[in-house]
Amino acid sequence: MAKISFLALLLLISSTAYGQLSHKYYSNSCPGLQPLVRSIVQQTLSNDPTMGASLLRLFFHDCFVNGCDASVLLDDVPPFFIGEKNAPPNMNSLHGFQVIDAIKASVESILCKNTVSCADIIALAARESVAFLGGPYWAVYLGRKDARTTSQMAANINLPPPSASLQTLVSSFSAKGLAPWDMIALSGAHTIGQARCANFRQHIYGDSNVDPGFASFRRQSCPPAGGDSNLAPLDFRSPVKFDNQYYKDLMAKQGLLHSDQELFNGGQFDFFVWLYSVNQTAFFDDFANAMIKMGNLPPAGSNGEVRKNCHRWN
Ligand code: HEM
Repeated sequence: MAKISFLALLLLISSTAYGQLSHKYYSNSCPGLQPLVRSIVQQTLSNDPTMGASLLRLFFHDCFVNGCDASVLLDDVPPFFIGEKNAPPNMNSLHGFQVIDAIKASVESILCKNTVSCADIIALAARESVAFLGGPYWAVYLGRKDARTTSQMAANINLPPPSASLQTLVSSFSAKGLAPWDMIALSGAHTIGQARCANFRQHIYGDSNVDPGFASFRRQSCPPAGGDSNLAPLDFRSPVKFDNQYYKDLMAKQGLLHSDQELFNGGQFDFFVWLYSVNQTAFFDDFANAMIKMGNLPPAGSNGEVRKNCHRWN
């Protein structure tokens, strides 16, 4: 009896924790949604697997700025409205908008009109990308609403920079209710994707906790001056495979960004990097759980909507 009450309490706590989001949210109103998103993402990634990283990052950058509300998709309307897209962490760096547009257009034209939010499409596209590239699969909680406004300043304040120290990373995730181990699991997203030289130059020329062979290899395409946009893979051994190689790289001092290597630099959370480097299942489980947690970040405003066009409010 006591056991049943405890389980009921647990269920109550978990349903409250996920607010009004539910993985069955569109079961009646748009039952074909998830297969459609899966099929478009799979088709896109078959042609260009690097797009998976872009879609995953889009979700992170959406959720960290005013919650997961598709605020990141709003176009600037100068001089009246300046949004997140051209904030320094996003400008010439965030990609995948056209894939979200393609999914939204298909949903609206062949599936269900005015029903599915752009924020939910981003969450589903991120999950499908990870799964397609070999990573874990999880039930996405749905029912988010799209924001009617945002600001460039919000992106600048909330997105941690690649120069961040371990303490800054821990604080910026803790400000979102995410624990240090959530942050370390989520950082495993850097097992796929690329970064621009401007974002890792200081690390390969100035930091001491870098494998010298790795640093000189990376310097070949990232000169001390110029070449800011030259790209390098965040995990050069398997850049389009979602695996635990990122953590092995960190153990070998081959993290590309300063912020990556901060996770394994003699600090108090080294253990998690080691754990994920030897146990991919633990990484996949913790990553999936942390993605659900991050996906539950509530929007700042209460007057959300289902946008007709992901680029602008209705
Ligand atoms: C822990 C703090 C984090 C920092 C400081 C950070 C920083 C960065 C930077 C600087 C880049 C390269 C951007 C460029 O050079 O254009 C990048 C790429 C990327 N980030 Fe993060 N990131 C963090 C956490 C995350 C999280 C939590 C996720 C997702 C769950 C994520 C997913 C990605 C992906 C997939 C890419 C590659 C994007 C692509 O190739 O298009 N990052 N990140």
